[in-house]
Amino acid sequence: MKSFVLPCFTLLLLFIHTPSYTCSSSVLPLCNHDDTSNLLQFKNSFVVNTSLYKDSWLAELYCSSYPKTASWKNDTDCCEWDGVTCDTTSGHVIGLDLSCSMLQGELHPNSTLFHLTHLQQLNLAFNDLSDSSIYPGIGDLVSLTHLNLSSSALSGVIPSTISHLSKLVSLDLSTNIFRQNILRLDPSTWNRLILNATNLKELVLTDVNMSSVREDSLSLLMNLSSSLVSLRLDYTGLQENFPTAVLGLPNLQELILSENSMLRGKLPKSNWSAPLRVLDLYYTSFSGEIPDSIGQLKSLNQIWLTECDFDGLVPPSLWNLTQLTTLAFAANNFHGEIPSLLSNLKHLINLDLQENNFSGHIPDVFAANFTKLEFLALSSNNLGGQLPPSLFQLTQVFHLDLSANHLEGPIPSQTTKLSKLVALHLDNNLLNGTIPHWCYSLPLLKEIGLSNNKLVGPINEFSTHSITHLLFSNNKLQGGFPNSIFRYENLLQLDFSSNDLIGFVDFHQFSKLKSLAVFDISHNNFLSFNYDNSSIDYFLPNLAYLYLSSCNITKFPRFLERIQYLKALDLSNNQIEGVIPKWFNELLYQWNISFIDLSFNKLQGDLPNPPDGINYFSASNNNFTGGISPTICNGRSLNLLILSHNNLSGDIPQCLGTFPSLQVLDLQINHFYGSIPGNFSKKNAFKTIKLNGNQLEGPIPQSLAHCTNLEVLDLSDNNIQDVFPSRLEALQELQVLSLRNNKFHGTITCLSRKHPFPKLRIFDVSNNKFSGSLPMQYFQEFHGMMTLK
Ligand SMILES: *[C@@H]1O[C@H](CO)[C@@H](O)[C@H](O)[C@H]1NC(C)=O
Ligand SMILES: *[C@@H]1O[C@H](CO)[C@@H](O)[C@H](O)[C@H]1NC(C)=O
Ligand SMILES: *[C@@H]1O[C@H](CO)[C@@H](O)[C@H](O)[C@H]1NC(C)=O
Ligand SMILES: *[C@@H]1O[C@H](CO)[C@@H](O)[C@H](O)[C@H]1NC(C)=O
Ligand SMILES: *[C@@H]1O[C@H](CO)[C@@H](O)[C@H](O)[C@H]1NC(C)=O
Ligand SMILES: *[C@@H]1O[C@H](CO)[C@@H](O)[C@H](O)[C@H]1NC(C)=O
Ligand SMILES: *[C@@H]1O[C@H](CO)[C@@H](O)[C@H](O)[C@H]1NC(C)=O
Ligand SMILES: *[C@@H]1O[C@H](CO)[C@@H](O)[C@H](O)[C@H]1NC(C)=O
Ligand SMILES: *[C@@H]1O[C@H](CO)[C@@H](O)[C@H](O)[C@H]1NC(C)=O
Ligand SMILES: *[C@@H]1O[C@H](CO)[C@@H](O)[C@H](O)[C@H]1NC(C)=O
Ligand SMILES: *[C@@H]1O[C@H](CO)[C@@H](O)[C@H](O)[C@H]1NC(C)=O
Ligand SMILES: *[C@@H]1O[C@H](CO)[C@@H](O)[C@H](O)[C@H]1NC(C)=O
Repeated sequence: MKSFVLPCFTLLLLFIHTPSYTCSSSVLPLCNHDDTSNLLQFKNSFVVNTSLYKDSWLAELYCSSYPKTASWKNDTDCCEWDGVTCDTTSGHVIGLDLSCSMLQGELHPNSTLFHLTHLQQLNLAFNDLSDSSIYPGIGDLVSLTHLNLSSSALSGVIPSTISHLSKLVSLDLSTNIFRQNILRLDPSTWNRLILNATNLKELVLTDVNMSSVREDSLSLLMNLSSSLVSLRLDYTGLQENFPTAVLGLPNLQELILSENSMLRGKLPKSNWSAPLRVLDLYYTSFSGEIPDSIGQLKSLNQIWLTECDFDGLVPPSLWNLTQLTTLAFAANNFHGEIPSLLSNLKHLINLDLQENNFSGHIPDVFAANFTKLEFLALSSNNLGGQLPPSLFQLTQVFHLDLSANHLEGPIPSQTTKLSKLVALHLDNNLLNGTIPHWCYSLPLLKEIGLSNNKLVGPINEFSTHSITHLLFSNNKLQGGFPNSIFRYENLLQLDFSSNDLIGFVDFHQFSKLKSLAVFDISHNNFLSFNYDNSSIDYFLPNLAYLYLSSCNITKFPRFLERIQYLKALDLSNNQIEGVIPKWFNELLYQWNISFIDLSFNKLQGDLPNPPDGINYFSASNNNFTGGISPTICNGRSLNLLILSHNNLSGDIPQCLGTFPSLQVLDLQINHFYGSIPGNFSKKNAFKTIKLNGNQLEGPIPQSLAHCTNLEVLDLSDNNIQDVFPSRLEALQELQVLSLRNNKFHGTITCLSRKHPFPKLRIFDVSNNKFSGSLPMQYFQEFHGMMTLK
C-alpha cells in the first residue's frame, strides 16, 4: 500500500486542472483481485450494529469501537481499506485487523475469510460472531503468526485443525466478556497445537473450557521453552495438578492461572523462570510453602496468591523483591511476623495480607518509603500492639483495612496525609480513646468502620464530602446524635448501635437519605427514636434493615407502611402498646422479610403470622393471646421461633417438628395445651426446645430422640404423663434435661448405652411420681457435671 501513496499523490498534482482524472482509475490497484472479493463477501456476511457493546465498560476498556468496514468499497484498492494490510510486492492481504468493528452475524464454515491464505495477522476481537464456531477452515490460514479472536462471542469446540497454524507467535482465544457460551479446547487439539506451534510467545485462553486438559498435556508446554513469554489460562476450569516445571520456562514473564479453584500445584524449590514479572495464582488450590528461592525473581512485580492454600512463614528473601507493586497473599494460612524489611518494597501499590495468621506488631515503616501504596489490607490476622503512626502518613492510600485483629491503644490523633483515603476499617479490635478529629474531615472518605472497639467520647459532626458507611457500633461512644449525618444523601449504612448515645433522633430528619439501606441505633439506653405517627409523608425507599431495639418507642411505627422491601425489623425492648396493625400483617407477605424481633414490648391481641422465607421470629415477652396460626407451617426456613412469655394458647402446630433448620423453639410460659409435636424428622437442627410452663399432656414422642444436636430440653411445669424417656440417653449433646413438675412415673431406668448423657449438666426430674432408685450408671457418666470450668 505505502509504495503507491507517492505516485498517486504526484499524479494528482500533475492533473490538478483536470478534475475528472482520479487516482483509482489511473493506477492499478495493488490489492489481489481474489482477496478483494473474498474480503467483500466476508464483510457482507455481517451487519454493522452500532449499538454493539455500547454499554459494556469492559469493551470500552479494551477498544473504542467504530465500523472499520465502512471504508470498504467495491471499486477501491483493498490495501487502502481500514484494517487491511497488504504485502507490498505481491499485493496479497497479509493482515486483517477488524477488532472492535461492530460486526454482528455468523461466521460460516465456508466463509471466504478462510480463503485469505496469505494472512499473517488476523484480529476479530470484540465483534459479535453470534455463537459461531471457529470452523476447521481456520487451519487453512497456515501463514498466521498472530490470531486474536478474543471476546468475539464464539462458542463450541475449537477445531483440531488449529494445530496446523505452526507459525503462530501469538494466540488469543479468550472470551472474557461474553461468558454465556464458551469455547472448549480438547486435550488432543491442545497437544497437537503445542507441539506444532513451536514459536508461541503469547498464549491467552482465558475462559476457554480446558477442564479435560490434564497435567501430562500441560507438561508439553515445556516444548515451548525457548519461546513462551506469556501464558494466560485463567477461568479455564483446569483441575488436578499443574506441572511445576512450567514456572521454570526460561523466558516466561507472565503466568496467569487465576480462578481455577480445583487446580493444584506447588511453587518450585529452584529453577524459577528468571524473567517472571507476573505470577497470578488467585483462587486456585496451589499449596505448600513459598520457597526461599523466590528471592531470585528480581523482575517480579506482581504476585497474587490470594485464596490459595499456602501456609508457613513468608521467606525473608521475599522482602528483597524490591520491584513488587502487588503483594497479595490474602486468605491463606501464612503465619509469623510482618518484618520491618517490608520497607524495602518501595514500589508497592497493593499490599493485601488479610485473612491469615500473621502475628506480632505492625512494623512502623510506612511513612517515607511507601509513596505509591494505594491499597493496604491486614485485616483478620492476629496482629497486636498499637497502630503504628506511620500508617496514617500514607499519601496515596485509598483503602486501609486493619479490622479483626487485636490492635490496642488509641487511633493516632495526627495525620497530615491520607488525603486520598476512601475506606477506613479499624473495626473489631481493642482500640480505645476518642475518635480523632481527622476522621470527620478527610476529603474523600466514604466508609468508616470502627465497630467493636473500646472507643469513648462523642461522635462529632462530619465535614467530609460524602459518606456511604458509618459503622460505629459496640463502643462506649457518648453524647448526642450528630446532625451533620442528615446531609449525606448517599449514606447506605448507619450503625451506631450498642453505645451510650443520648437524646432524641427524629425520623423526619432522615428524609433526604434516599439511599439508606441499613439503619441501626439499637441499645443506646438513653437514645429515643421519635416519629410522628399521624403522618407518613416521608419515607426511605431503600431501607431494608431496620434495627430499633431499646429506642424508647411507644407506638407501632406507621412509617413502616411506606417501606417497599424490608428484610429485617427489630423493634424489641421498647414499650410498644396495643395490637399489631392489620396493614403490618399484609406487608409481611409483600416484604419477603427474614428477621422479625418484637420481643419485650406490651403488644397484645393476635400474633403476626410469620411469612414464608422467615428465618428469625421472636415475639416473646408481650401479651399476645390466641393461638399460633396453622399458616406457620409455610415458614419451613425458620431457624428461631421464640414466642415465650405471652398468653398464647391452643395446640402447638405439629409441623414444627419437621422444619429442617429450626434450631430454637421456645414457647415457654404460655397456655399451650395438647401434646408435644410427635414427628421430629431424622435429620433436624434442633438445639433448644423449651416448652416449660404450659399445659401440655400426653407422652414424650419417641421421635424426640432424632434431635441429635439437642442441647437444652425443658419440659418442666406441664402435665406430661409418661415413664422416664430413657431413649433420650442417645442425645450426646444434651446439657439440660428438665422434666420437673409433671406427671412422670415408674422407675428411672438406664438403657445401658455406652455413654448415656455424656454432656449433661442439669438433670431435674423433681416433682414427679418417679419411684425406685436412681440408676448409678447415669451418675457415673455425667461427665458434663464433673469437669470444672
Ligand atoms: C445490535 O446488537 C444488540 C446486542 O446484541 C441487539 O440487542 C440489537 O438488537 C442489535 N441491533 C440490530 C439492529 O440488530
Ligand atoms: C486481542 O485484541 C484485543 C482487542 O484489540 C486486545 O485488547 C488484546 O490485547 C489482544 N490480545 C493479544 C494477545 O494481543
Ligand atoms: C463489485 O461491484 C461490481 C459492479 O459494481 C459488481 O458486479 C460486483 O458483484 C461487486 N462485487 C462484490 C463482491 O460486491
Ligand atoms: C456456504 O455454505 C452455505 C450452506 O452451508 C451456502 O448456503 C452458501 O452459499 C455457501 N457460501 C459460499 C460462499 O460458498
Ligand atoms: C503442523 O503444521 C504443519 C504446517 O501447517 C501441518 O502440515 C501439520 O499437519 C501440522 N501438524 C499437526 C499435528 O497438526
Ligand atoms: C467444560 O467441558 C466439559 C466437557 O469437556 C463439560 O462437562 C463441562 O460442563 C464444561 N464446563 C463449562 C463451564 O461449560
Ligand atoms: C517435546 O515433545 C516431544 C514429542 O514430540 C517429547 O518427546 C518431548 O519429551 C517433549 N519435550 C519436553 C521438554 O517436554
Ligand atoms: C537480600 O539481598 C541482599 C543483597 O542482594 C543479600 O545480601 C541478602 O542475602 C538477601 N537476603 C535474603 C534473605 O535473601
Ligand atoms: C526506607 O528504606 C530505606 C532503605 O531502602 C531505609 O534505610 C529507611 O530506613 C526506610 N525508611 C523508613 C521510614 O522505613
Ligand atoms: C488504652 O489501652 C492501652 C493499651 O491496652 C492502655 O494502656 C491504656 O491505659 C488505655 N487507655 C485508656 C484511656 O483506657
Ligand atoms: C423516653 O421518651 C420520653 C418521652 O418521649 C422521655 O420523656 C423519656 O426521657 C425517654 N426515656 C429515655 C430513657 O430516653
Ligand atoms: C393482656 O391482655 C389481656 C386481654 O387481651 C388483658 O386482660 C390483660 O390485662 C393484659 N395483661 C397485661 C399484663 O397487660
